[in-house]
Amino acid sequence: MSAYHQGRPSWMDVGFYDVPGLSQAVENESDVLLVDMGGSLGHDVSEFCRKWPDAKGRLVLQDLPEVASQARQQSLHKSIDVMDHDFFTEQPVKGARAYYMHSILHDWADENGLRILKNIVPAMKRGYSKVLINENVIPDTNAYWETTSLDIIMMADFASTERTAAHWHKLVELAGLKITKIWTAQRGVESLMECELA
Ligand SMILES: C[S@@+](CC[C@H](N)C(=O)[O-])C[C@H]1O[C@@H](n2cnc3c(N)ncnc32)[C@H](O)[C@@H]1O
Repeated sequence: MSAYHQGRPSWMDVGFYDVPGLSQAVENESDVLLVDMGGSLGHDVSEFCRKWPDAKGRLVLQDLPEVASQARQQSLHKSIDVMDHDFFTEQPVKGARAYYMHSILHDWADENGLRILKNIVPAMKRGYSKVLINENVIPDTNAYWETTSLDIIMMADFASTERTAAHWHKLVELAGLKITKIWTAQRGVESLMECELA
């Protein structure tokens, strides 16, 4: 996944998403700014630290125990806490500013995707917490071949799917959330969907 992300525009780039707005709402340095669920060895949270060194709040990297133990062996930035967590169980970090998932939900068909999302909801603080979903959003017309090819790969490998905007809205709403905005840098690159409690 780390190699896949090399050289691609990222939502953390200046001018893509309002990272300062996300961070400025965090009151204390010890509060959690972002939980990276299924964050693997921490390439996204490390990139975040590099690009936004002054962002207020802590970062939590979560993955299954065997992956989290490998992540602990990396030299991660001191503001990153590594935590064992199975996203099919309730999110233990309560009241974070953002719960972030990158290339997670496209691995799972709707039933399991919904379980993952519903497990975040009890941890969220109304009017403050956001769910950030970093995934492909396939347009209704003129879909790009690279993302539709990935859709076939997801179907063949995981019985899963890439999703259109309408599909994302429906899935998120079933979990008790709503998509407030979708940011897209360019075709073929994952969008960022910002969600709040409905
Ligand atoms: C496709 S990778 C995405 C990794 C990272 N978010 C990225 O974009 O590079 C999926 C990640 O989900 C993790 N994962 C799979 N099942 C999980 C579960 N039940 N709970 C938490 N993490 C899980 C995997 O270990 C892996 O790191």
